[in-house]
Amino acid sequence: MKKIAVVTGAAGGMGRAIVDRLRADSFHVIGLDIDAIGLADMLSDGFEGISIDLTDPKEIKKAFKQIEANHKGVDALVNNAGTCFMSEFPNIPVGEFERQMALNFSGAFHCCQAAIKLMAGRDGVRKIVNISSNGAYNFDAFDPPHYRASKAALDTLTKDLARRYATDKIAVNSIAPAMTETPLFGVVSKEVLEKAIAQMPHGRAMQPSEIAAWVGFLISPAGDVSSGNVIILNQGRDVR
Ligand SMILES: NC(=O)c1ccc[n+]([C@@H]2O[C@H](COP(=O)([O-])OP(=O)(O)OC[C@H]3O[C@@H](n4cnc5c(N)ncnc54)[C@H](O)[C@@H]3O)[C@@H](O)[C@H]2O)c1
Repeated sequence: MKKIAVVTGAAGGMGRAIVDRLRADSFHVIGLDIDAIGLADMLSDGFEGISIDLTDPKEIKKAFKQIEANHKGVDALVNNAGTCFMSEFPNIPVGEFERQMALNFSGAFHCCQAAIKLMAGRDGVRKIVNISSNGAYNFDAFDPPHYRASKAALDTLTKDLARRYATDKIAVNSIAPAMTETPLFGVVSKEVLEKAIAQMPHGRAMQPSEIAAWVGFLISPAGDVSSGNVIILNQGRDVR
């Protein structure tokens, strides 16, 4: 029997790489994304998609009910869905603030609630990996405050759940990448993007597969002993 992994934002740049990594590691992967066409394109042996708006807790509940009915349980959850709205602080519209928090934090919160119930009784150490951002920690880069705050909240959730579920053998970690080449690069101007990439020590952006490899490592048995960590991936950019 294949183990079951749920990946949110599966149809995006990072999401596709994470799905590929976990499929290669013999998981059956269920992708949750609002992009129904993107998910349909990905349909293959070892992958199925559920089209869902992760800002709606009722839709999350329904999706996990479907997963429970079809697969009985969940072994790994990757909360990867997220976006970066870029309005300047004094002018951030209420709706933009709420949507940023709803997708980047609340969606992940509700997926953790639903997935943890379905992890009960599964073999081995079950895994949650939250995709945070270097933006929560590096205040030199361009990231806006509501984006940083949504990711900082996610990392606090990581630590709480890691502690809360340690003896239940559910390991919870965050991965906080810096500049990774995905469609999300489109939220900033060419000038801002070039400057941010030039600040990367290797002189290039990271690739989604490089982040996915770390997700795969944490979810593999080698990752069993790590929980409650926020792993920064940035080629050493912010070491002082
Ligand atoms: N790319 C980077 O440089 C970078 C750096 C740090 C952190 N991150 C984080 O990585 C994660 C993945 O981002 P990415 O770079 O692959 O971006 P992306 O835009 O390529 O992918 C985001 C995915 O989320 C989905 N999505 C958006 N709104 C949704 C909703 N309401 N419901 C369900 N799905 C929704 C999109 O359809 C898309 O498939 C995000 O959490 C992002 O904050 C990215």
